[in-house]
Amino acid sequence: MAEANRRGFLQVTGAALAAGAWAAPATANAAEDGPIPIGFIGPGGMGMNHVRLLAQNKEVRIAWVCDVDANRLKAAADHVEQAAGTRPQTTGDLRRILDDRAVQAVWIATPDHWHAPATILACQAGKHVYVEKPCSHNLREGRLMIEAGKQHGRVIQVGTQSRSTEGIRKGIARLREGVIGEVLVAKAWNSQRRGTIGKQQPSSPPEFLDFDTWLGPAPAVPYRSNLLPGVWRWWHEFGAGDMGNDGVHDIDIARWGLGVEVHPTRIAAMGGKYVFDDDQQFPDTQTVLFEYQNLPGPHSRKQLIFEQRIWSPYVQEGFENGCAFYGTDGLMLLGKTGRYQIFGRRNKLIEEATWGGPDLAAHHRNFLGGIRTGEVQNADVSINHVSTALCHLGNIATRVGRALEFDPAKEMFVGDDEAGRMLKRTYREHWGAPRESV
Ligand SMILES: NC(=O)c1ccc[n+]([C@@H]2O[C@H](COP(=O)([O-])OP(=O)(O)OC[C@H]3O[C@@H](n4cnc5c(N)ncnc54)[C@H](O)[C@@H]3O)[C@@H](O)[C@H]2O)c1
Repeated sequence: MAEANRRGFLQVTGAALAAGAWAAPATANAAEDGPIPIGFIGPGGMGMNHVRLLAQNKEVRIAWVCDVDANRLKAAADHVEQAAGTRPQTTGDLRRILDDRAVQAVWIATPDHWHAPATILACQAGKHVYVEKPCSHNLREGRLMIEAGKQHGRVIQVGTQSRSTEGIRKGIARLREGVIGEVLVAKAWNSQRRGTIGKQQPSSPPEFLDFDTWLGPAPAVPYRSNLLPGVWRWWHEFGAGDMGNDGVHDIDIARWGLGVEVHPTRIAAMGGKYVFDDDQQFPDTQTVLFEYQNLPGPHSRKQLIFEQRIWSPYVQEGFENGCAFYGTDGLMLLGKTGRYQIFGRRNKLIEEATWGGPDLAAHHRNFLGGIRTGEVQNADVSINHVSTALCHLGNIATRVGRALEFDPAKEMFVGDDEAGRMLKRTYREHWGAPRESV
């Protein structure tokens, strides 16, 4: 990238700053050489996978770690100090990281309900963002994130690392080359075996946890021991069920291979809690069918199917999570953890490839390349939003129990106010609450 463009790409414009709610100044120019100072927000289960990789990555320096759980905060800081040789600053308030002019990028691995609020604040403060999947808690937030990135000239990469995994990229490239003809239908499945979360009464949060900041702008529900850590994904106010949790990885690959860059026009779904008798609010059994209409090219209609049975003690086609692509000349089976197979007419195996699993380090490299040189993000928020939206749309259709018509351009249901209300959320009064204009 030319120097002038590079500068323009990396600096927040005066106009963008003036429009932002956040008063913090833009970051300094990204260093051409030397590690990029970053802040890490939410070093929990997945977060520590990132921290362990980043602490040994010479491209970055973890300047801050932030967690509302004091035990996790200390464990993350201890790890960085031990692995990288320098102890990062610590905080339970992510705004302190955003106030630090030296920090150029943040990683956000909080629960889903904080993804959009933290991303938007970070963009307003001039930071580039790597945020975990699903990009949003609800569909509207995804759109606000895209707008925030554009308005403030920031890179936003979403944590679907399959997008940077070479074996998967090769499989998708083979589909694009027409190895199975035109792909008209794709199926993604999630048949991981989950456990029950039980039933719990409200209780006092533990002393090491700032539960009010954990809730952030989400509605203030009482603390329960089966709400966190990790378990929040099964609660409506905080997660998107397993469709938005592990399902989103495979749904994203299915949509990628199907070759549709738009939202579907029709959604039909059935499901519910067929197995677990506990507090979780999302289906353990779910089948969702999306139809795309008016597509360019010889085949104007395509389908994407999602199946979820999170109680099955067996896998499908060799993978607990996977994708099948149905083409006019053949079939591809793809498991993101390491293999695709291509079958031609009469199920003749014609090609097979294996790899070592999703490549998180490659996804980090792609993000950092975006900061330094403007390299295109493999899982830019504008890409992930379209896949994450499928999870939100599928969950809404399952909840209302009827087929829904969707207007892709307006990102609204047609003639269904009850479903429409679930496309966004009401925030409580909180400094993290996103505004409609970002
Ligand atoms: N890419 C992947 O393969 C992958 C795998 C697992 C999880 N994830 C995603 O990672 C995210 C975290 O999932 P998890 O299972 O690690 O959850 P978790 O509950 O174990 O961890 C979340 C952490 O964020 C902290 N936190 C919450 N609010 C915060 C705030 N305002 N400021 C700072 N810290 C805050 C929590 O205390 C906790 O330590 C989710 O979005 C999940 O979907 C991605």
